Amino acid sequence: MSRYAHVVGWGKCAPQRVLTNDDLSRMVDTSDEWILTRTGIQERRLAGDDETTVSMAVQAAHQALEVADLRPAQLDLIIVATVTPDHLFPAAACLVQDALGAARAAAFDLSAGCSGFIYALSVAAHLLCAGAYHTALVIGAETLSRITDWHDRNTCVLFGDGAGAVILQAGENEGGVLATVLGADGSGGDLLQLPAGGSRMPASHQTVAERQHFIQMKGQEVFRFAVKTIPAATRQVLTKAGLALRDVNLLIPHQANQRIIEAATRSLDLPPDSVYSNLERYGNTSSASIPIALCEAAESGRIQPGDLVVCVGFGAGLTWGAAAIRWTRPQPLPRPPWQRFVRRSLYVVAALRSRLRRWWRRLLALLSRNDGQ
Ligand code: ACO
Repeated sequence: MSRYAHVVGWGKCAPQRVLTNDDLSRMVDTSDEWILTRTGIQERRLAGDDETTVSMAVQAAHQALEVADLRPAQLDLIIVATVTPDHLFPAAACLVQDALGAARAAAFDLSAGCSGFIYALSVAAHLLCAGAYHTALVIGAETLSRITDWHDRNTCVLFGDGAGAVILQAGENEGGVLATVLGADGSGGDLLQLPAGGSRMPASHQTVAERQHFIQMKGQEVFRFAVKTIPAATRQVLTKAGLALRDVNLLIPHQANQRIIEAATRSLDLPPDSVYSNLERYGNTSSASIPIALCEAAESGRIQPGDLVVCVGFGAGLTWGAAAIRWTRPQPLPRPPWQRFVRRSLYVVAALRSRLRRWWRRLLALLSRNDGQ
């Protein structure tokens, strides 16, 4: 019996703080006109002081669980795609698992730049179809503002923060993630990088003084790569799924630059209204951009059951990936307030159980230390 990985829940988190192009023009030598015409971005959201990749990922995950009508304990697997985890380790996914109280879930992070969400979706879908797991939470979450050089006008106008999540569930009815393609070309690794902070160039006074802990990008080369890659990956995934461009109801490309999106739309000869763009409001949120767009499109009714959605991304690595998804989940009916209250209370209890485990571990450590004395 064939198994399929269906999208059954979706959620997103966009931080409250808005940074407009005019705000940026007071920080670096740029203008609203330049940013808008060269990128299509009008504003982006930035994480507040108390927000992190994990806190935004957890908010998106809670929404996705609500849509899917699932409890955290029903999750078997959590993958967080990110290039800005809270720490190098433990993985952001483990911190999400803890905050949700998803006690049964395996959890790991995945780093594939802006293609991270597609990579994570592909891995999760294959694990579900192979029968290894039943329910997976896949998140793309980034706090790019913390690795953006706010003195560099070439990059700081592009990026924003946020998180998006989907829940995949295995089922026997045909649909869900029909096909994925993934690719990489490490020879282009230097086009988009965060030079320091890893084992090759650990943090030092020198790396800080040389601003090596911020994104460095050769924008034009990335641009050329993106314009070629989006149409190629889209065609490849459709061929793999046995479908054609005319079957596509909505294309959700990585939101990096409106000119890239328009060039890809022309190259694929798709009607512009079948290509999703929310770039003007969020900028480039790296691995969060596709799941935020997917969630917005689902919430607004732009995606309907039976629709074919193609998500396609490119990014640091260099990497690229595409996923063809047959949407099967109808929009959930609005729940009465008491049901939402009960659901949220369950999330609080699940998170509390997780906190109790931590206190219990500390107590055991204390007791064993006393035993040893
Ligand atoms: N404001 C005003 N002028 C600027 C700005 C700015 N913010 N940034 C650059 N300029 C100037 C440059 O200095 C240059 O001036 P010069 O001609 O005097 O040297 C001029 O504008 C043109 O610069 P270009 O780099 O040629 O501008 P371009 O049209 O290529 O746009 C951009 C630059 C927006 C970065 C574009 O190349 C791009 O979007 N590239 C792709 C980036 C991308 O997608 N990155 C994300 C990858 S995914 C991931 O993993 C994060």
